Amino acid sequence: MCGIVGYAGPNDTVGALLDGLRRLEYRGYDSAGVAVLDAAGAVSVRKRSGKLARLEELLEASPLSATGTGIGHTRWATHGGPTDVNAHPHLGDDGKLALIHNGIVENFAELREDVAAAGIELLSETDTEVVAALLGIEVARTGDLETAFRAVVRRLEGTFTLLAMHRDEPGKVVAARHHSPLVIGLGEGENFLGSDVAAFVSSTRRAVAVAEDNIAIITPDAVRITDFAGDAVEFEEFEVQWDAEAADKGGWSSFMAKEINEQPDAVANTIRGRLDGGRVDIPELTELGDDVLRDVDRIIIIACGTASYAGQVGAYAIEQWARVPVEVQLSHEFRYRDPVLSDRTLIISVSQSGETMDTLMAVKYAIERGVTTISVCNTQSATIPRESDAAVYTHAGPEVAVASTKAFIAQITALYLIGLHLGRVRGTLSEEDSAEAVAQFEALPEKVREAVDTHEQVAQLAHWMADTRSVLFLGRHVGFPIALEGALKLKEIAYIHAEGFAAGELKHGPIALIDHGQPVFVLVPSPRTSPLMHSKVVSNIQEIRARGARVIAVVEKGDTAVLPYADDVIRIPLSDSLFDPLLQVVPLQWFALELSTAKGLDVDQPRNLAKSVTVE
Ligand code: G6P
Repeated sequence: MCGIVGYAGPNDTVGALLDGLRRLEYRGYDSAGVAVLDAAGAVSVRKRSGKLARLEELLEASPLSATGTGIGHTRWATHGGPTDVNAHPHLGDDGKLALIHNGIVENFAELREDVAAAGIELLSETDTEVVAALLGIEVARTGDLETAFRAVVRRLEGTFTLLAMHRDEPGKVVAARHHSPLVIGLGEGENFLGSDVAAFVSSTRRAVAVAEDNIAIITPDAVRITDFAGDAVEFEEFEVQWDAEAADKGGWSSFMAKEINEQPDAVANTIRGRLDGGRVDIPELTELGDDVLRDVDRIIIIACGTASYAGQVGAYAIEQWARVPVEVQLSHEFRYRDPVLSDRTLIISVSQSGETMDTLMAVKYAIERGVTTISVCNTQSATIPRESDAAVYTHAGPEVAVASTKAFIAQITALYLIGLHLGRVRGTLSEEDSAEAVAQFEALPEKVREAVDTHEQVAQLAHWMADTRSVLFLGRHVGFPIALEGALKLKEIAYIHAEGFAAGELKHGPIALIDHGQPVFVLVPSPRTSPLMHSKVVSNIQEIRARGARVIAVVEKGDTAVLPYADDVIRIPLSDSLFDPLLQVVPLQWFALELSTAKGLDVDQPRNLAKSVTVE
């Protein structure tokens, strides 16, 4: 949450900052602001509450004459509401320095007393302005931005990425990270800072991930990294594997629509290089050592939101193939329950961004206890994969819409691959089952494409249902987490009440919710591969239909058993039961998108949310 950008170079500074902010807006859009050194050598700020477009309007009305040093911020409000005054950047040293922040400074009340004692009056309600004021005091005392910055960051508790610039040191931006993301973009005669590589990918694909508790100093020609004590730190650069175009909307109406359409590729790219004949081989896991994987007696998947539902789907497959108990825990619950861990426990974290603070903290908790950790992540060189013992990247490409779609499908794919790899290494998976799963994988991208083609039918349904106030979702086995995901998508982007239930749980309470006309999506298991579950779900459909529900059944092609009881039927391609979730979820994604559109809402940037949640 909160996107930060820094620029040092000879080119259009405001342009570079705005381009970065546009690409980082998914991280928060309560307010936005930029600070630059202007032609007169002063720090000039423009900031405004609301989305970036409002800041752009302000800049058009009141342009900045920048000279090559700047910082920019897009905010997800924590301390202080989303007002113009609370928007970043904040100023210090009598307006000579500007500072932006992603995170929360927990000891800000105590620090504010120091600021008050120095006779400085704060204008905003933010923790960030306190830091800007403190930095101003230190710069005035030491006469040097870097020394002052180090002194200040050492005093801060909580989480932060901070960027600062000072009038007296033109061409320089300093940055620090503590439990919040920070990357550097290496350009030709210009350098960048950002919350992630999207901030500068349109200018350079050469990047450096700044490690925890480090300070980065960029000028147009140089990049340095030190620790908080000021000692130099060596760093390695990496190449961003996608280009700016991949993170552009192209001709699509929304990023979410584009990303739903990209799902066949997300699956194909995540599988690529990991199928070896009739078996799955993940080199990153081989490096971890087969002995380690053979020894595992329990797996805990930790994740939040959509990623946790991917984890729930994955748990069924991993248990089936690797015959090891798997449980899924929400990251923010995990470490507070004093979990029972041993050196035979394996933690698999699932996170699109690789920066979700709750998940990062849970992973760190496990690492401190000597537990082996694998990260399933979609973002190259993000903090969680770097901290983990092994990283199994999903290759879904950059996901920009706040509501996750292609990353979800890629996460399930990666978890399945991990299950098959584990099953092989542990000797619990027959060659026949392995070959069958591999064949399913090979056919999967094309089937996902067919599921994507349900769009038109689902769009019509959603537009008829634009006034719906509540939708329920039912699923069994791997269909259960998909029911939860279908409901989450609706809550996230259409702001309507939605609940997912295990179909078998219906009679234990939720059936009381069924009233005349209540829409219920039912994910129907295959009658070919899961005949028992299929007949049970058909009975559930009859039960709710008898009570007036409007049933929308998602069935595999050729399943006619449901037809007499369903008001609408959405057909997906035939596959093995375990692979059904990857197809069933697609019409539910379309439904949420189209209902949100029918209600005139912003599909990509739903209210109150942000994509990368870097606060606990
Ligand atoms: C936020 C987003 C969700 C996402 C979750 C986990 O809550 O709004 O869409 O599923 O974070 O994100 P991660 O990056 O860890 O997968």
